Amino acid sequence: MRVHVADHPLITHKLTVLRDRTTPSATFRALTEELVTLLAYEATRNVRVNEVTIETPVTTTTGVALSEPRPLVVPILRAGLGMLEGMVKLVPTAEVGFLGMVRNEETLQPTTYAERLPDDLSDRQCFVLDPMLATGGSLSAAIDFLFDRGAVDVTAICLLAAPEGVEMLEKRTEGRDVTLVLGALDERLNENGYIVPGLGDAGDRLYGLV
Ligand code: URA
Repeated sequence: MRVHVADHPLITHKLTVLRDRTTPSATFRALTEELVTLLAYEATRNVRVNEVTIETPVTTTTGVALSEPRPLVVPILRAGLGMLEGMVKLVPTAEVGFLGMVRNEETLQPTTYAERLPDDLSDRQCFVLDPMLATGGSLSAAIDFLFDRGAVDVTAICLLAAPEGVEMLEKRTEGRDVTLVLGALDERLNENGYIVPGLGDAGDRLYGLV
């Protein structure tokens, strides 16, 4: 697994505001979207393209277009939904599938409660959106799901990660073409499975306590 941790003052600045407990939901949502667009720039570095020929007003030249099949973006519900707009802003032609995963707060184990994805992902590049890589349980289950359907490579984009989650993902995805793009790598997980220093519950901060 390739791991890329963003190293840019604008990303760190936006993350600092996200972490602040007094940041209201509306600002949190807007900043999440901006952060994902910045992270998506790095995450799509190896997006597949093919050469095309076009006419400029002056001459004929070559450029590139995104290859078929189009990239598939998969936000993990619920918190990953807050990252979707930021991603499709950068890749507007991507298709979007959905995976609903929830972790049991006592066992910390993930279960899938919703799925809307193409049956066949052969030859697809997939981008999974999940803001918090904590234990790694739901993200690795989501990645397994995509490879089982035939995906060729998977890039996960997370705002924050705990080292424990990165390690778990490394083990679970061994031998597979997986890239992890992070806004920051935090210190640790606490006894309740929260990332420290973290930003709290990303779903609650985006959408309120429901
Ligand atoms: N999920 C969150 O939303 N926050 C954490 O800190 C860990 C998991």
